[in-house]
Amino acid sequence: MKHKKVTKAVFPVAGLGTRFLPATKSIPKEIMTLVDRPLIQYAIDEARAAGIKEFIFVTSRGKSALEDYFDVAPELESALRKSGKDHLLEILKDTNMDSGAIAYIRQNRPQGLGHAVWCARRLIGDEPFAVLLPDDVIAAEKSCLQQMIEAYAETGGNMVAAMEVAPEKASSYGVLDIANDMGTIVEAKGMVEKPPLGTAPSNLAVIGRYILSPQVMINLNKIKQGVGGEIQLTDAIAEEIGKGKVYGYRFRGQRYDCGSKAGFLQATVAFGLARPDLREEFGAYLNDMVALQKAAQ
Ligand code: G1P
Repeated sequence: MKHKKVTKAVFPVAGLGTRFLPATKSIPKEIMTLVDRPLIQYAIDEARAAGIKEFIFVTSRGKSALEDYFDVAPELESALRKSGKDHLLEILKDTNMDSGAIAYIRQNRPQGLGHAVWCARRLIGDEPFAVLLPDDVIAAEKSCLQQMIEAYAETGGNMVAAMEVAPEKASSYGVLDIANDMGTIVEAKGMVEKPPLGTAPSNLAVIGRYILSPQVMINLNKIKQGVGGEIQLTDAIAEEIGKGKVYGYRFRGQRYDCGSKAGFLQATVAFGLARPDLREEFGAYLNDMVALQKAAQ
């Protein structure tokens, strides 16, 4: 291992989730479920599989359901134990965090992703760290962050997950300007947050998984508002180009944009079909639906 191990991860979960109103009026977006697991559980599982030991949540008002979700539930657990439902107790294990493994930091004003990440600066200190955006759910044989951590062990620097998107969609993402394309890994010579239509330097978009050097936190200290009047993480990473290296990593896996309704529904279908206990019944239903739709056309 040439580079310092990544053991801390930041989960920005302070957003209002307005795209999912009215649901998000009283539940955090990250608690919305794909089949029977909240979005945040997928991100935590991915981080755990990649060897993360400290989980830092950047939250805001109205997110207490998230804190409860990762706490013990003594009454529920004892009721399950009494009724012999050991398999359900087993399922709950994934939701438990050791004391001290999870920290909650408040972002008291919504000032953008960069600002949210910066809120965790004191807990990160002088170490490389991961950032996972729970809206981006990635189904993969080997977790996306694990793939990146293995690549980072060789490259060091800063690394962002990357994926080719349709050119007309590039303006919804951070986009890489490619200096050197080595296949799975690309070296960036620039990075633009949400470029106006037709101006993107490539169609290689940043997806919500990052491994960042502590220097990015220092950059965030002084960065000015970027696109949309927000403090952009992309801009703080882009400042590293030229000083250190910034890499894009083309991960193996299927990414779902669970920040959009269509993406959320697609993920629900994909994860439902991937479940052995649901596959048959759900698959048959979907086939019937498709047949009905075709017949109606
Ligand atoms: C954020 C980042 C953007 C990235 C995207 C991936 O944007 O700012 O660079 O491409 O996540 O999902 P958001 O979707 O929060 O607007």
